[in-house]
Amino acid sequence: MAPETPGTEPQALSNLLHENRRFAPPADLAAAANVTAEAYDEAAADRLGFWERAADRLTWAKRWDTTLEWNPPFAKWFVGGQLNIAYNCVDRHVEAGRGDKVAYHWEGEPEGDSRTLTYADLQREVNKTANALQELGVGKGDRVAIYMPMIPELPIAMLACARIGAVHSVVFGGFSASALKSRIDDADAKLVITADGGYRRGAPSALKPTVDEAVAECPQIEHVLVVRRTNQEISTYDRDVFWADIVERQSDQHAPEPHDAEDPLFILYTSGTTGKPKGILHTTGGYLTQTSWTHNAVFDLKPETDIYWCTADIGWVTGHSYIVYGPLANGATSVIYEGTPDTPHRGRFWEIVQKYKITILYTAPTAIRTFMKWGDDIPAKFDMSSLRILGSVGEPINPEAYVWYREHIGAGRTPVVDTWWQTETGAVMISPLPGVTSGKPGAAMRPLPGIVADVVDDQGQSVPNGGGGYLAIREPWPSMLRTIWGDDQRYIDTYWSRFPGMYFAGDGAKRDEDGDIWLLGRVDDVMLVSGHNISTTEVESALVSHPKVAEAAVVGATDPVTGQAIVSFVILRGSVEESADIAAELRNHVAKTLGPIAKPRQILVVPELPKTRSGKIMRRLLRDVAENRSVGDVTTLADSTVMNLISEKLPSAKSED
Ligand code: WT7
Repeated sequence: MAPETPGTEPQALSNLLHENRRFAPPADLAAAANVTAEAYDEAAADRLGFWERAADRLTWAKRWDTTLEWNPPFAKWFVGGQLNIAYNCVDRHVEAGRGDKVAYHWEGEPEGDSRTLTYADLQREVNKTANALQELGVGKGDRVAIYMPMIPELPIAMLACARIGAVHSVVFGGFSASALKSRIDDADAKLVITADGGYRRGAPSALKPTVDEAVAECPQIEHVLVVRRTNQEISTYDRDVFWADIVERQSDQHAPEPHDAEDPLFILYTSGTTGKPKGILHTTGGYLTQTSWTHNAVFDLKPETDIYWCTADIGWVTGHSYIVYGPLANGATSVIYEGTPDTPHRGRFWEIVQKYKITILYTAPTAIRTFMKWGDDIPAKFDMSSLRILGSVGEPINPEAYVWYREHIGAGRTPVVDTWWQTETGAVMISPLPGVTSGKPGAAMRPLPGIVADVVDDQGQSVPNGGGGYLAIREPWPSMLRTIWGDDQRYIDTYWSRFPGMYFAGDGAKRDEDGDIWLLGRVDDVMLVSGHNISTTEVESALVSHPKVAEAAVVGATDPVTGQAIVSFVILRGSVEESADIAAELRNHVAKTLGPIAKPRQILVVPELPKTRSGKIMRRLLRDVAENRSVGDVTTLADSTVMNLISEKLPSAKSED
């Protein structure tokens, strides 16, 4: 390995990428912003007072006695307080005279298939469903597994659980029977709510057979509640009850009983990289406080005029916090879309933006890079002048993808908010504020008011500006996970043991020369090249900054000279032909952008990248390819055939130099 420069400590993570572009907030947005720069000072002066004021945006049946009880690493927020989440998300808006306001415009995948639910409609549906759940013997504290497509009955089912104090565990509709079964078992659920199927890529896609297979081995399941969506033929069993039979005949009145601020609201399983899925537990008062405050602040939501669309699946935390709880607590009008972005054509998202005059769009970098690959001409065909704020979540957004998003979707006018958070954090933690922050492409910028996040070195010391390290959170926050369901020890070991007294998120990060935070990917993915810790994110962003590249994934592969060497997999933009010298061109581009240390050993042009069902690149599988191993477990891939396409490319991959 190359020696370190004498006199300098090796950094936990190198800071290679330097970005000079800045985008100030539009003047009219800044002038009318929900949250101004004072919020940072107020929260810094009195953090708990700040969160108390955020909690006061909700309606409490009983005010809390103690704002925070902190027995590290176990937190209780708003102790002694009582509230009903369904009441806060639905009833109170109706009582305030906003019953006719649209809560959800639902757009099915088959064109022309749409439904509109006002807050009054939602109240009736949630009440009927709450009554039906009680008739099925579900009560406070019982766990309910929900395995559904993106149809209105999904948020209705979640809110009905919340209303009666049952704990929902939503399992993403793309998961297998065995994944569903293990989650039902872990939470010991007694009811499953599902549908016959949903529409995906232009065809009905069945769900009920997967539930049947899972439940065959789950004796604790008393009933399966089934919505008819596709009218596919399905097998039925004694335990099955149809939504149309039980929900429709219920009373649309249901008294919302207050629940304790610390009563469980939901469990959501995250797979992590390996091992048994972790049931992340979120509770009531703190979760709703932070999801609703952040939704109001980060998206500058004006409930009377905004039309908000988060494209995530409700099966992920993004959908829980920013399709269901945050927006409804704020009385927003949202769009829900059932299907995929390329059905029936690659302009479907932009057609939806045009149809509903969407003002706020929240999506993921993986989608943005796909749209870049498909070409600028597709969004250009639609009128998207209604858009005023764009959001990103799920992975680091490469600066070039950020700029493309701003230019081609936001017409060069709209701020982009890159929001960093996790299933575990429950709500956004690090993000620009659109009316305050001058955004830098690729940076998540600053912790939100009330959040104490830091970038630390191996010893847990804050790194100076310009330094790289690990993202850590130094103080508890209202929407933090309370534990891993049924496994406090694993909660302690996973999140609180790497740095004493701090929550460790598992992400690498750097603090730039101005003190702003950049996320650099999972620490498991960091590459060690000639003694330098190099983040995959920075090399990928350098590749994506080349005009021919739409998307890139890099991994470290064992190398006899440098310890690890950088191997890159790239997808070219739609119109670009693969030329003979493309690899040399891209390698030189990276060396020029980041320095010679980051120059990839190899570049492979591939048609697709392996991704999880939530759109994150699975670098583990690419490492197998780069190190000439047989490819490991592909069961969590969204498309299991992708690895064959990539392996086929391998013989042509020559190591240059
Ligand atoms: C992990 C959490 C948060 C809801 C969706 C994902 C990565 C998320 C960003 C961002 C860089 C990000 C991190 C994080 N991540 N947002 N804006 N910039 N990385 O939830 O499945 O729990 O994943 O996603 O690595 O730890 P999740």
